[in-house]
Amino acid sequence: MTPPERLAYIETFGCQMNERDSEIMAQLLAGRAYRQTSDLKAADVVVVNTCSIRGKAEQKAYSLLGRLRRLKANKPSLVVAVTGCVAQQEGQGLIDRMPHVDLVVGPQHIYRLPELVAEAAAGHRVAVAQSDAFVIPPFLPDLASGSSYKRFVTIMQGCNNFCTYCVVPYTRGREVSRGFGDIIAEVEHLARHGIREITLIGQNVNSYGLDQPREARRTFPELLRAVAEVEELRRVRFTTSNPKDLSDELMACFAELPKLCSHFHLPVQSGANAVLKRMNRRYTIETYLDRVAGLRRARPEVALTTDIIVGFPGETDADFAATMELIETVRYHSAFSFKYSDRPHAKSAAFPDKVAEEVKGERLTVLQARQQEITEERNREYEGTVLEVMVESEAANRDGQWAARASSNHVVNFTGPGPYTPGQLVSVHIDEACAHSLRGRIACLTC
Ligand code: 5AD
Ligand code: SF4
Repeated sequence: MTPPERLAYIETFGCQMNERDSEIMAQLLAGRAYRQTSDLKAADVVVVNTCSIRGKAEQKAYSLLGRLRRLKANKPSLVVAVTGCVAQQEGQGLIDRMPHVDLVVGPQHIYRLPELVAEAAAGHRVAVAQSDAFVIPPFLPDLASGSSYKRFVTIMQGCNNFCTYCVVPYTRGREVSRGFGDIIAEVEHLARHGIREITLIGQNVNSYGLDQPREARRTFPELLRAVAEVEELRRVRFTTSNPKDLSDELMACFAELPKLCSHFHLPVQSGANAVLKRMNRRYTIETYLDRVAGLRRARPEVALTTDIIVGFPGETDADFAATMELIETVRYHSAFSFKYSDRPHAKSAAFPDKVAEEVKGERLTVLQARQQEITEERNREYEGTVLEVMVESEAANRDGQWAARASSNHVVNFTGPGPYTPGQLVSVHIDEACAHSLRGRIACLTC
């Protein structure tokens, strides 16, 4: 007899690593007859896949857990699982503090989720967190659900860098690379089933392979080249990289591999060397700018984006001015910027000279306003050009616009006779730059 169908609700906070982990958990639960639902009240299992990178992200997860307490009071059979970085950070403590939480599962243990859910349904509350001998198992993704043309592929987990503000080395653990052959097998499997764009993901992809013995080591540029060779693929992206590890060999990939998209996310965090030093970033602004110049030599049209923290402990007005100067120098296509927040375990939580919340807020407003102007100036540079874009939407919207994405990662909305299929590459003439996207019309009427 087939078991009755049950419903799983998965809420994902945070980065692409978590998004991919949620897809994996959905697939594993589907293997035990759990169908996904978007109706929280109907769920038999709720998975809260948490992020703790900044204080705000963590608060969002706790606010959902607060709602779940009331839900579980009315439905005691509900299984509540907390996964992701807060799970790792808090471990058993969460079970002790929150009686309505049944499972706490760190990122290295998601593959055990179905078995743990079965235990929880039988009344056993369990917390499992990091283990030392962690290996990312081979795993072929489900093609029945999810995007029909683009996917994330995890290539490594964890981080060894210990930037002083960052919780990641404590939540995701030390760097663990996935096997080269497993990654290529997954990419080939996806490509054979219609996937046209792959984003290789990891906290610090430039260190891929460095945790392997020297004789067996394959580097990130080698991996990129092998992925780009998969015939049916049209585009390859990756994220995220620490600028200190951006090698000449990786830059050369931008000159050599046409499938590698013209976008590089290169988090700078601060424009002041004194702050970078206290952040333990292990590069200076001079070396950062040198890497930027090298990338632009290899691929002149590359669009650069970044992450910036304002109000790191001890950040002076002059330090902040240096960050403002940096964004004028680099002219990023866009930037994610954040107010510094203390994180558990992170060294900077104990640093003196904390910057007042009000000052952080003012700095963030100034930075974001100027960056938005630069983003719009950058977007205007595309007006009058023709871009190759990958179609993202199934159909045109009410204004006859199709959604697509350029190699530079810009969203491009365009008109054309259609129909187009998601994953198709077409050429678009850009007529207008908007605040967050580009607009145009099909350039090649035979497409
Ligand atoms: N406070 C503020 N921002 C942070 N980030 C990481 N840790 C912190 C923190 N403690 C930002 C960094 C990183 C991005 C993912 O989140 O800019 O690149
Ligand atoms: Fe955190 Fe630094 Fe590692 Fe990025 S490189 S995950 S900021 S410790």
